[in-house]
Amino acid sequence: MLTKFGKKATTLFHFCSGQSSGRSVLLKSRIMSLTSVSCPTVPLSNGLRIPILGLGTSHRGGYCHDAVVYALTDCGLRHIDTAKYYGCEEELGKAIKESGVPRSDLWITNKLWSADYGYESAKKTCLDSCSNMGLEYFDLYLLHWPDAMRPGCSNREIRAETWRALEELYKDGVCRAIGVSNFVVHHLEQLKEDCSVVPHVNQMEYHPFQQPKDLMDYCRQEGIVFTGFSPLARGELLSNPVVCQIAEKHQRTPSQICIRWSIQTGIVTIPKSTKKSRVQENWEVLKFQLEEADMAALTSLHDGRRVSWDPATVE
Ligand SMILES: NC(=O)c1ccc[n+]([C@@H]2O[C@H](COP(=O)([O-])OP(=O)(O)OC[C@H]3O[C@@H](n4cnc5c(N)ncnc54)[C@H](OP(=O)(O)O)[C@@H]3O)[C@@H](O)[C@H]2O)c1
Repeated sequence: MLTKFGKKATTLFHFCSGQSSGRSVLLKSRIMSLTSVSCPTVPLSNGLRIPILGLGTSHRGGYCHDAVVYALTDCGLRHIDTAKYYGCEEELGKAIKESGVPRSDLWITNKLWSADYGYESAKKTCLDSCSNMGLEYFDLYLLHWPDAMRPGCSNREIRAETWRALEELYKDGVCRAIGVSNFVVHHLEQLKEDCSVVPHVNQMEYHPFQQPKDLMDYCRQEGIVFTGFSPLARGELLSNPVVCQIAEKHQRTPSQICIRWSIQTGIVTIPKSTKKSRVQENWEVLKFQLEEADMAALTSLHDGRRVSWDPATVE
């Protein structure tokens, strides 16, 4: 199915095809093979559709302007995940502008860090983040972490007060969808009792070693789209023998196998890379499929290992 995002990627090729030198013909065919790849989308409960494959950005391992521009222009990727906490809002805003991709074709997710929780602070921070990135709205805005990190105060009350600010930002159109990240079932249940809009998304660590099945089932039942971060387990999966064997069989890289597994389980996936060649490699997972037996072998790798903090202990 050619989705909105797939169509726009093809349009970009037409835009690029005006050049006529030999080099540009070569470039054109390479760009065509990448940008003509259509990226499937996943529907949110409010009818919006989020591209299933995005590009992560992070303070860990640096941020790369050229990799973001390359993803948007040469690959046709349309979904970028960031957070105020990563400290690259202004640079990312510049990369988006430089790409020339119309705002309406993009899916931009940003996150509110715990230090900015609270009703007034949340509203101001979101508007400041928009301004830092040169954007008028976010497609998705998330509470980044369940702990408000204010000793002596109730996390539950602060989360609820902050969520009410996000509900208003949503109603005002500053955020086209709102959600949470690193929320486990008890955080989501409390929010449901305290507030009115059910989060559209919950972004969690997800890869073959870490598959929070009960939480995923809960999200599905509540109409919350589960998004997976750290799909490569920050590189820890790339030397796993099962992953390497499947990669060899398909003549693909271990990274492609992990990302393909994640999207083939239906989960929105946001690998991060600061290298153009890896951005391209990761995007090409849209061009092949894993067999059922490969999927089962990768799924059986779950051992509960994590590469980021476990939020389950946050009250
Ligand atoms: N909500 C949250 O709390 C949260 C937490 C963590 C992450 N996230 C989001 O999820 C995104 C991805 O997570 P992550 O960065 O933690 O982990 P990841 O995507 O699993 O791994 C990123 C690491 O893998 C390397 N890499 C990427 N593609 C590769 C390839 N094809 N071959 C070999 N190595 C490759 C990257 O290095 P190079 O950059 O050098 O290529 C980087 O060191 C983040 O950028 C962020 O947007 C959200």
